[in-house]
Amino acid sequence: MTSISNPFITTGYQGSEYFCDREDETNALRSNLVNGQSTILVAIRRIGKTGLIRHVLTRLPKNYAGIYVDILPTENLKEFLNALVTAVFSTIPEKSKPGKKILDFIKSLRPVVAFDPLTGFPQLTVDVRPGESERHIQSMLEFLEGYPQKVVIAIDEFQQILNYPENNTDAFLRSIVQSLNNIRFIFSGSQQHLMTQLFADPSRPFYQSASFLKIDKIKPMAYASFIRHHFEEARNTIGEDTINAMLDWTDHHTYYVQLLCNRVYASASRKIDNENWKEQAARLLQEQEIVFFKYRDLLTKQQWKLLKAIAHEGIVYYPTSKDFIAGYNLGSPATVLRSLQALTEKEMIYSDYTKEGQIFYSVYDVLFRRWMQRR
Ligand SMILES: Nc1ncnc2c1ncn2[C@@H]1O[C@H](COP(=O)(O)OP(=O)(O)OP(=O)(O)O)[C@@H](O)[C@H]1O
Ligand SMILES: [Mg+2]
Repeated sequence: MTSISNPFITTGYQGSEYFCDREDETNALRSNLVNGQSTILVAIRRIGKTGLIRHVLTRLPKNYAGIYVDILPTENLKEFLNALVTAVFSTIPEKSKPGKKILDFIKSLRPVVAFDPLTGFPQLTVDVRPGESERHIQSMLEFLEGYPQKVVIAIDEFQQILNYPENNTDAFLRSIVQSLNNIRFIFSGSQQHLMTQLFADPSRPFYQSASFLKIDKIKPMAYASFIRHHFEEARNTIGEDTINAMLDWTDHHTYYVQLLCNRVYASASRKIDNENWKEQAARLLQEQEIVFFKYRDLLTKQQWKLLKAIAHEGIVYYPTSKDFIAGYNLGSPATVLRSLQALTEKEMIYSDYTKEGQIFYSVYDVLFRRWMQRR
């Protein structure tokens, strides 16, 4: 990959040079796929699922083709078909005979090709009659089944299929998926309750059809040495304590670590100390303030109060406990539970489990949390 001006990237994947660690996760995912196991990848938002998928897809054995499909923007099966066709078109080389066969199939669907103005990548739109999408999705996958290389298809934000108006999309997809021997899937999603609903509920078609892989924050030591390496590469010096303070402030949450490092790097003086990063952190909070006020407008009074309380605490284990409720004047446990659910659905907060299996709640937006804690 070409070198870039700031090594702390905040969107996409730019190759292993700018990708920190994830060695265990990479090996686990790769090993699942190579051994014929489709995998469900779950984690909270902005922790690095998409990055990990992209990383693994570039590290598959030689005789593998990796196809990445993001279905977040799709709202129905027709759009799913378009996303799939676009991904296959961008990945499978036409030069080989089997590649040509697949691309001929895509051409037979008479796609309209447009180019994404931002990325320059082609976007294909197939005009299908209502009810025909299923058949074409099936044919597309069957063509890939006949491809002479092993195929891995990563479907990112898979829980989105639950929003499709077509009933039983999961039953339809499951029935095709289980008939395929040459294709392994990565199903990735950030809405963990929906992903477990799809894959861990015995009454759902995808139940026990793939193994779960949950990813966590990047190991502190590995992140610290990644950060130091990139600063030193640019001949800046940065102390251990400064790096650790930055990691703490961003709560080791990948996107926020990257964002802060990106800013500090951009403003770099030769020697980076606590004053430097704190200035950038304060700037970030100031920039975001307008967004935080928007949060308040979008929430009920009770929800806003609870959000502030959780932000203030950082992590909350017992949101309906007397102490917590009284400490923040939150009303009754029933009110708190209702707000908790609403805030989860709005993706303002998330719940997760500690290693010991204890559930906890936390605010998604680390910057918001820091902003709240300063007030
Ligand atoms: N291992 C890594 N090293 C360095 N940066 C990373 C790493 N993994 C992810 N990132 C960066 O962190 C940010 C968030 O990562 P990514 O988009 O992969 O998260 P995600 O879990 O897919 O988030 P979402 O749930 O919002 O889709 C991106 O800017 C990405 O470039
Ligand atoms: Mg993602």
